[in-house]
Amino acid sequence: MPTPRSTALAAFQRRFGRAPARLVQAPGRVNLIGEHTDYNDGFVLPCAIDRGTVVAAAPRDDRVVRVVAADLGDGVDEFHLDRPIVPRADATWTHYVRGPVKHLLAHGHALAGADLAVSGDVPQGAGLSSSASLQLAVLQAFKGLGRLDTLAPSRMALLAQEAENRFAGCDCGIMDPLISALGVEGHALLIDCRTLDAQPVPLPAGAAVMIVHSRVRRGLVGSAYNLRRQQCETAARHFGVKALRDLSVPMFEARAIELDPVVRRRARHVLTENDRTVAAARALAAGDLREMGALMAASHDSMRVDFEITVPPVDELVRLLQQVIGDAGGARMTGGGFGGCVVALLPESLVPQARDEVARHYRSPSGEPADVHVCHASNGAGDLPLQDG
Ligand code: GLA
Repeated sequence: MPTPRSTALAAFQRRFGRAPARLVQAPGRVNLIGEHTDYNDGFVLPCAIDRGTVVAAAPRDDRVVRVVAADLGDGVDEFHLDRPIVPRADATWTHYVRGPVKHLLAHGHALAGADLAVSGDVPQGAGLSSSASLQLAVLQAFKGLGRLDTLAPSRMALLAQEAENRFAGCDCGIMDPLISALGVEGHALLIDCRTLDAQPVPLPAGAAVMIVHSRVRRGLVGSAYNLRRQQCETAARHFGVKALRDLSVPMFEARAIELDPVVRRRARHVLTENDRTVAAARALAAGDLREMGALMAASHDSMRVDFEITVPPVDELVRLLQQVIGDAGGARMTGGGFGGCVVALLPESLVPQARDEVARHYRSPSGEPADVHVCHASNGAGDLPLQDG
């Protein structure tokens, strides 16, 4: 079976006729709880997953960057480090290569030209951060090739976020690049998105993290995400605080009536979700899957009713999984919303039954079965050995 590693290595050789000097990877992620809280300076609890992007790279002695996308029929990109780096409307994947490079340069990092071959196995449009994973892998590749040894993982995440906001045009928060940079094997991270403090929380022994893709594709650069963000900012401004993070639920409830009803519901989701996320980290650390499941269910309901980012097929998937899991764990939609994936945390012994239930009873609106992946919480971006084994 070809892997992103073997595919990237083969594409590099095929396209550039030489061997790469570095091989790097950066993972996708699944968020256990804490949705749409990151850009409100709140809390998130994601883990990096064992699906990601691999980049094979070698330096060039000129100022040209050439890229081959092995999974996209060997699509290519080429740009010059000393000429304006602008988005290519005909190939959006190139945003996630050009953007980080442009922002590295903008921050004064000295780069040389490079050849890059890219391959990944994070499903696109599934809400598992294929774009952050690609950006972090590109940054990691340049780090390996250049004089960027001092580029700390959290700095790389901030650069990736800046590139996604300014180059790709999505106002997304820090969660995805940060967990792709900092992931810890076997752990979720409780991230304070204001301070970027990240506390590893061990996943309980015997618990499986199951990702179920509804096959309803989602687009993040869509207006719905940016609109949610604006609504949250409107609520924060109304209360005279920097971000919704600065409000407690009681402070909010006391004056919530002053808000437009839609803005009120958006803000209520964020405030209650922050509290749930901190409680979930405690529950996980204590191995309390029952409490974790209750918090995940409340999170899903809040996304469905207050934040209005779920869609009926995803609600149905969550319901099917909750039925199997009962109070032994939980399930909720994960990621930005409007399709994508459901995450379930459940005893390993229930995985076959959960798979079976989904296979029997779920079809996407276009008739496809869901795609199930039991994942392993993994390390963040890093170098891979060039030789296998
Ligand atoms: C997307 C964004 C993240 C975060 C989530 C919702 O994944 O990239 O920054 O806002 O949506 O939690």
